[in-house]
Amino acid sequence: MYRTQNCGELRLAHVGKEVSLAGWMHKSRDLGGMTFIDLRDRYGKTQLVFNMETDKELCGSARKLGRESVVQVQGIVRERSSKNNQMLTGDIEIEVKELKVLNSAKTPPFTLEDDTDGGEELRMKYRYLDIRRDKVKNNLIFRHQVALEVRKYLSDLDFIEVETPYLIKSTPEGARDFIVPSRMNQGMFYALPQSPQTFKQLLMVAGMDKYFQIVKCFRDEDLRADRQPEFTQIDCEMSFIEQEDILNVFEGLTRHLLKTLKGADVEDFPRMTYDEAMKRFGNDKPDIRFGMEFGELNDVTQHKDFGVFNSAELVVGIAVPAGNQYSRKEIDQLIDWVKRPQIGALGMVYVRCNDDGTYKSSVDKFYDQDDLAQWAERTGAKPGDLICVLSGVKNKVRAQLSALRMEMGERLGLRKPDEFAPLWVLDFPLLEWDEETERYHAMHHPFTSPKTEDMAKLDTDPGAVRANAYDLVLNGNEIGGGSIRIHDKQMQALMFKHLGFTPEEAKDQFGFLMDAFEYGAPPHGGLAFGLDRLVAILGGQESIRDFIAFPKNNAGRDVMIDSPSLINPEQLKELGIDLK
Ligand code: AMO
Repeated sequence: MYRTQNCGELRLAHVGKEVSLAGWMHKSRDLGGMTFIDLRDRYGKTQLVFNMETDKELCGSARKLGRESVVQVQGIVRERSSKNNQMLTGDIEIEVKELKVLNSAKTPPFTLEDDTDGGEELRMKYRYLDIRRDKVKNNLIFRHQVALEVRKYLSDLDFIEVETPYLIKSTPEGARDFIVPSRMNQGMFYALPQSPQTFKQLLMVAGMDKYFQIVKCFRDEDLRADRQPEFTQIDCEMSFIEQEDILNVFEGLTRHLLKTLKGADVEDFPRMTYDEAMKRFGNDKPDIRFGMEFGELNDVTQHKDFGVFNSAELVVGIAVPAGNQYSRKEIDQLIDWVKRPQIGALGMVYVRCNDDGTYKSSVDKFYDQDDLAQWAERTGAKPGDLICVLSGVKNKVRAQLSALRMEMGERLGLRKPDEFAPLWVLDFPLLEWDEETERYHAMHHPFTSPKTEDMAKLDTDPGAVRANAYDLVLNGNEIGGGSIRIHDKQMQALMFKHLGFTPEEAKDQFGFLMDAFEYGAPPHGGLAFGLDRLVAILGGQESIRDFIAFPKNNAGRDVMIDSPSLINPEQLKELGIDLK
């Protein structure tokens, strides 16, 4: 037997017992005649003591142990004279009688402490060492707990977990597919699923009624902190339901996760339409933990000779709390910040709201105190605030000011990681105009149903048609999205037509689904949560990488196994692929 206990288990009650432990040599300290070693495993650390006077040879071997060597020890549990209340096992130590080195270790390329000296790329290359650090290890344990609670909650509601295939045919979810060549069908390719969307709908036709799956999805898209090329969804679908039923189930799930995993009672799940979210926050996933709501200023700015505003489709501002404290230099830095290429504003007008109720703006030449008072009213600015105003094309300006709002929220410490503010965003547009291809794309996916009352606009004003689609936003992150589906063959065919598919293309790509709709498809709908994002946000962070055991870097590479990589010519030949 390698061990009688693990390294996080021993307490005062064990004093006097003979035990054996196994783990990694975390740290050692030589104090004259004594050597102390922290032995570590997944469960914690235990202090080992070696005494030079009682056993010189054993103590000598302990002193030679390198960091991270794997050892097994046997000894007696003793009460510590100086206790360490930072450690689970801080009341005791092991007086070691026997020490066996199970495996030696090279010195790790970075320190395995909370504050490590290893850069991200290095830690990714040696991810198995990085996972030994408490921070990453605890994130993975937390992820496991979230997944477990999800499975319990949904199973209790009669959802059945069904696995769907990974080698499929392309399903459009807005990203590019990862393609897998077929050896047995040369010249042909599978696609890895961007989501199990069509399969879960087929499971509804199959009568499964309530489906879920914690499932890997694959999307070939540009990476960001909250995006990985392979990620995990909590994918769900239900039959004989309306939008309200779905919102209720997943509100319940989210509430349950917040309560059981974070001890947070979140009663309120406010709802906002897409249009309202865009108008008030410039964003379809607003962080509502803080205010700084948009104030539209067209009618109170376009009556003077300021050409920049007069020619703008939208003039809009926010009030930064206590922003009047900023020096001229700090405001100039803020202007430079919004002018960075990533944000892309051409400039920023600002108004200082003085404590005495007067205003001082960067456009005093054009606007008087009465004008500026109106701006303050629209943006909710109080004495001591700074009003920041951007102008230009509506969509762009909203995105720019939203980025500034988030940045200021961050700088002012208003985005508190332990505060949770969920929000449903409803009534998304059905279609989105794509400048590049000059046609409409489905904003969610082509299986989403339009709102009945907007159907007439499909021919006349397709951009104005709203969908039965919803997103769940948590702390400014889209953690889930879904819709009520089309379950009628004619309607689905019409949707493909509006998306620019010829009847042949629609049949070729989605004939299987439309055929299934002819065999008794129930009304159905669903949603998918991004598990990685959900776990990261519950964990108080926004980057999903540290909640994934073996993530890819920003270039989509796994630097540990060095993938993607070239494959040998023999394999290519077998697949019938000629790279020349
Ligand atoms: P959607 O495309 O909105 O919907 O995806 C659902 C959720 O998955 C997460 N997500 C990602 N997480 C990490 N990396 C990525 N690259 C990534 N892409 C998406 C987000 C998102 O909200 N089939 C539909 C769901 C449905 O209609 O039921 C779908 O996939 O948190």
